[in-house]
Amino acid sequence: MRILGIETSCDETAACVIEATGTIASHFSFSVRGNALYSQIEKHRPYGGVFPNLAKREHAKNLVPILFSALKEAEMITPARAPTISKADLDEIKTILEREPELFSQLVPFFAQYEKPPIDAIAVTYGPGLEPALWVGVNFARTLSHAWSIPVVSVNHMEGHVVIAAIKESTLAPLTFPALALLISGGHTEIVLMKEWFSYEKIGQTRDDAVGEAFDKAARLLGLPYPGGPEISRLAKKAREQNILPPFPLPRPMEKSGDLDFSFSGLKTAVRRSVELLGTVTDAHKLGIAREFEDAVADVLVAKTRDAVLQTGARAVLLGGGVAANHYIGAKLQAMLAEEFEATALFVCPPIQATDNALMIALAGYFRALRNEFTDPTTMRANGNLKLS
Ligand code: KG4
Ligand code: ZN
Repeated sequence: MRILGIETSCDETAACVIEATGTIASHFSFSVRGNALYSQIEKHRPYGGVFPNLAKREHAKNLVPILFSALKEAEMITPARAPTISKADLDEIKTILEREPELFSQLVPFFAQYEKPPIDAIAVTYGPGLEPALWVGVNFARTLSHAWSIPVVSVNHMEGHVVIAAIKESTLAPLTFPALALLISGGHTEIVLMKEWFSYEKIGQTRDDAVGEAFDKAARLLGLPYPGGPEISRLAKKAREQNILPPFPLPRPMEKSGDLDFSFSGLKTAVRRSVELLGTVTDAHKLGIAREFEDAVADVLVAKTRDAVLQTGARAVLLGGGVAANHYIGAKLQAMLAEEFEATALFVCPPIQATDNALMIALAGYFRALRNEFTDPTTMRANGNLKLS
């Protein structure tokens, strides 16, 4: 089956074409035929975070070129020999794209120029995320589905992060259940219990900021650019190499609360207090604070994962979401599991696949399509607050 994945939940505009065979239980394998991603990070940097309406505009501007690039790499761009869509279809498309005039003006010549690509299903993120951004992707998928008569699967973005964490080379790593998914991104921090594939029970979550959000806010307080996660991580590494210590200790919020919930807003406030107390923040201070911040986050994540494994007897931990790109956190979790839970394995994807991308959406979409879980494109809606369980 050939799946086109589309992702627009935050500040990455992405499309990916995969070819997959097998089921989640046996002989699954896939190859990436074409993959394209445009990161809007530079556009949002002046705002110190993602600005939803700018994200929406950028998605609308870039989706068609990104689709073209993914299809081209997949060798699925063929010039049209005859008109590919009728006048009635065009009217319908105009209605679907009523709120996306930019997409409409790019898609009309696109449909006129190229044949329908040999795709069997379109997988699109419909939540959670920034609703204006999600809607662009959803309406784009609805339009492609209508123009090309290809079925749509709507995908939960977080399921994408879960699935891609378990990918090893071009197949799925063998997981033993129960498994835990530790999902740490810019918008989410949660521990999810999976008794089998696609069954989710949220057993812990943040009460305020998500981990990635805390990284981004702490970075901002230190005068570091958005997104703060990679910046803090880079400085923390340097501090460890140069043996630079923090000017003040930072708290490990809720580390020993006894439940599986998190709270990161206090950590950000403690960084603010450190900055205020210092008055002048030197480069050495920044290195020390970044190191202590990363240590505090890692300590809390390790403690909660330990508690969750103890409570559930989990045999696998899937680490997913943008913050899973952080090597230090991954290594700390790995060390704790290896030392204390011999039978529990950690699964993490390469950093480039941890942050938002369309491959994870295509993969999750494939498994949903195998289960015949197609979505009616005429009633499909974006849902910014979509939950996994
Ligand atoms: O999953 P993602 O790409 O987007 C959301 O769905 O939120 O996650 C983005 C988040 C940002 O907050 C970013 O700062 C954080 O992931 N991040 C990192 C690292 N790379 C990205 N946080 C810590 N260390 C990193 N290396
Ligand atoms: Zn994400």
